Amino acid sequence: MSFPKDFLWGAAAASYQIEGAAYEDGKGLSVWDMLCRVPGAIWNGHTGDVADDHYHRYAEDVRLMKEIGLKAYRLSISWPRVIPAGTGQVNEMGLDFYDRLIDALLAAEIQPWVTLFHWDYPYDLFCRGGWLNPYSSDWFAEYVEVVVKRLSDRVRHWMTLNEPQVFIGLGHQTGIHAPGLKLDWPEVMKAWHNVLLAHGKAVQAIRVSSKTASVVGAAPTGFIAHPATELAADIEAARLATFTVREKSVWNHHLFYDPIYRREYPPEAAAVFGRAMPQVKSGDMEIIGQPIDFTAFNYYQGMAIRAGADGYPEVVPHAPGAALTLFHWHVTPQGLYWGPKFLYERYGKPIYITENGCSGMDWVALDGKVHDPARIDFTRRYLRELSRAIADGVDARGYFHWSIMDNFEWAEGYKHRFGLIYVDFATQQRTLKDSAYWYRDVIASNGAHL
Ligand code: FCB
Repeated sequence: MSFPKDFLWGAAAASYQIEGAAYEDGKGLSVWDMLCRVPGAIWNGHTGDVADDHYHRYAEDVRLMKEIGLKAYRLSISWPRVIPAGTGQVNEMGLDFYDRLIDALLAAEIQPWVTLFHWDYPYDLFCRGGWLNPYSSDWFAEYVEVVVKRLSDRVRHWMTLNEPQVFIGLGHQTGIHAPGLKLDWPEVMKAWHNVLLAHGKAVQAIRVSSKTASVVGAAPTGFIAHPATELAADIEAARLATFTVREKSVWNHHLFYDPIYRREYPPEAAAVFGRAMPQVKSGDMEIIGQPIDFTAFNYYQGMAIRAGADGYPEVVPHAPGAALTLFHWHVTPQGLYWGPKFLYERYGKPIYITENGCSGMDWVALDGKVHDPARIDFTRRYLRELSRAIADGVDARGYFHWSIMDNFEWAEGYKHRFGLIYVDFATQQRTLKDSAYWYRDVIASNGAHL
């Protein structure tokens, strides 16, 4: 397997999932602090109050990242840690933490890739309507400006939002994630549109305020189909399935990226969403369509598609017993070939995989080590597909494994361990899993070890 010389080998995590210190040093509440208090909302009543205690142990965590040889680390900033009420008063102690973290990363020669919003939305703004409020995009831009002014002398790489498909879909439509709303489609799509405006205004704020040349994108997710065979008709069906809004759902990449790159919603969306289609005011698409520098996405599982009798895409069901991760997500590495290929063909920008990984039942064995062969095999398969895409001309430049360490997996609490580093949540002791050593060798050999 070969990868471009300066391929970016990374790993990722997110503020609420690892930081803890939920009520320290002036941090405001987030909607996840709120949801964690709702009985039955989170598996076993877990919370992110302490999580990996990364807020206090970041120096040790950066040392471990260096031991693995990470070239880049994708972190997120907690908005209410920086601006406790979401707008207005800035919390210097919160900014100081990110200062220290960025400095530690740079000292370890690890490039920080910063996500500005990975779901810990300020509670006070939620009480003012959250993403439904017409000012929500301005609130976000105000916060982004504060962060960028403070960190952009050292940070060049930014992602505005993590997975709007999930924080809107699960957070505002099915109610499984914070803030736990079950809105009707007109409100869901109003929130969606505000989120796109927030992305656009954030890009503007980064460009205006950055002290260095910025590299900007986002980290969405969505449906990726791979063709059941390499027959041209199946490939076409998979492409069509990937880029068609077929039902009322936000689980699509192009519902996010078409407005950004093409300044329009996918043409088929209006018929599907009907009266729920967001109102696009004049000037909105110019804001949303600010030029960005890369197309990134998070990928875990996809679906095989073939051309049906009429050429129309048809789902090929997974075979009984097909490989599953602990989350019961299907092991479908093909998506790391076809996903990058389809998105690169459609938008023509460099590709980054901002998340990919699997949860397993890991524990410290009697020999004191954490053996996680399934994670190694999973990642190997996915990375080999990515390498194949690169060999076929896709300009994919980086890969961030999810996650650097076990952490608070949202509504699933600590049930799922996604980390390369095992965390004992009772003692906060960290142990590098076999996969961490394996990934270290992959990085050191620039993928030849795959
Ligand atoms: C993604 C999230 C990330 C993590 C992984 C498993 O949807 O972005 O925070 O929970 O799933």
